[in-house]
Amino acid sequence: MAVDLLLGLQWGDEGKGKIVDVLTQNYDIVARFQGGPNAGHTLEFDGIKHVLRTIPSGIFHSKTINLIGNGVVIDPVVFVKELEGLDKFNIDYKSKLFISRKAHVILPTHRLLDAASEASKGKAKIGSTLKGIGPTYMDKTGRNGLRIGDLEMPNWEKNYRALAEKHLGLIDFYDVDVQFDLDEMEEEFFTAVETLKTLTFIDSEEYLHQAQKAGKSILAEGAQGSLLDIDFGTYPFVTSSNTTAAGACTGLGIAPNKVKEVYGIFKAYTTRVGSGPFPTELFDQVGEKMAKIGNEFGAVTGRPRRCGWLDLVALKYAVAVNGVTQLMMMKGDVLSGFKTLKVCTAYKYKGETINHLPFNIEPEYVTPVYIEMKGWKEDLTKIKETDKFPKELNDYIDFLEKELEVPIKLVSVGPDRTQTIHR
Ligand code: IMP
Repeated sequence: MAVDLLLGLQWGDEGKGKIVDVLTQNYDIVARFQGGPNAGHTLEFDGIKHVLRTIPSGIFHSKTINLIGNGVVIDPVVFVKELEGLDKFNIDYKSKLFISRKAHVILPTHRLLDAASEASKGKAKIGSTLKGIGPTYMDKTGRNGLRIGDLEMPNWEKNYRALAEKHLGLIDFYDVDVQFDLDEMEEEFFTAVETLKTLTFIDSEEYLHQAQKAGKSILAEGAQGSLLDIDFGTYPFVTSSNTTAAGACTGLGIAPNKVKEVYGIFKAYTTRVGSGPFPTELFDQVGEKMAKIGNEFGAVTGRPRRCGWLDLVALKYAVAVNGVTQLMMMKGDVLSGFKTLKVCTAYKYKGETINHLPFNIEPEYVTPVYIEMKGWKEDLTKIKETDKFPKELNDYIDFLEKELEVPIKLVSVGPDRTQTIHR
């Protein structure tokens, strides 16, 4: 059985959590393949909003298996808080939440290192969520990391201690002011590890191979967005994992020839949280209006998100890198009431007009070239069928489909599960 992938095509916060939740009924297994608690996947149904950080967004469906893959980094402390959130709604996760033994563990000192590294960068800071993501992936690729499977071994605390000591040395080296009470952090960490160990750890790649053989349907859930990919994003203002389609293969052990549909999620406009270039960013009242109507505040950090027009140059790049087969447009409702909509179709770059994403997209190199389209007035949030779409929305969608050469199969018109229109 083939595996389908679901990915964000911009700088994250596209609404992946909602779509995984909507699609989950079609899948036996939902598997998260990269990132960690830097993500905040928001799901809304029955009037309640849930934010998931590490746990796959299929957890609210009773029959679906939710798997956390080897490509994910897990902070036991945050994880246990997520479990407590599920307990409040009596979600039975014990029988349907599995964790890869090869996933890496975020230590308290990884979080401290993240803070020290960011503080040392001054104005050049990445704008990290400070969840320890970068330092944990550094230990993974540096071959020093602690893995979930290690927690089942005797004396794992010895390895923990050696790694934590190394981190403390590095924090000293940064010579910045980072306040912490390590004893308190460690107490919380070791208690959380004991709770984590009550869950099922598995050899997840083998589990997924057998599941595929048995004809089970699998949805691989990405976190962050393609422009935050460590290789293809706006480096160094990126996260530390491969957020693009190939990350699902390495982050779960899925062979590339087993991938079928690649669902690419994008917002009808663009947002970015944290530092880094953003060619179509708006610094005026139009951007403020988008942020306000779209409630553009980070699900994890609460930071306001930067807002701007849709950037088709960047979106085409993401479609190509991921091999997107179906597009899903989110937050169309937020653009209601804008008289004119702009879409960036090219960049002016070193005196030339280009249609691809160059090495540098900082403002000193790139100026966006826009086309203008007529906006729509109608409130979309109550619409249930495509034939009720205003003409201008159809024109917007048709234009994007033509440019991107991929069908837009779903339009989301509000945060709730029910505000989802299939085309
Ligand atoms: P880190 O992954 O926490 O180190 O953050 C690196 C960059 O990625 C920062 O600009 C963050 O704001 C951004 N980032 C990380 N996770 C997310 C996410 O889930 N949504 C949006 N931006 C994110």
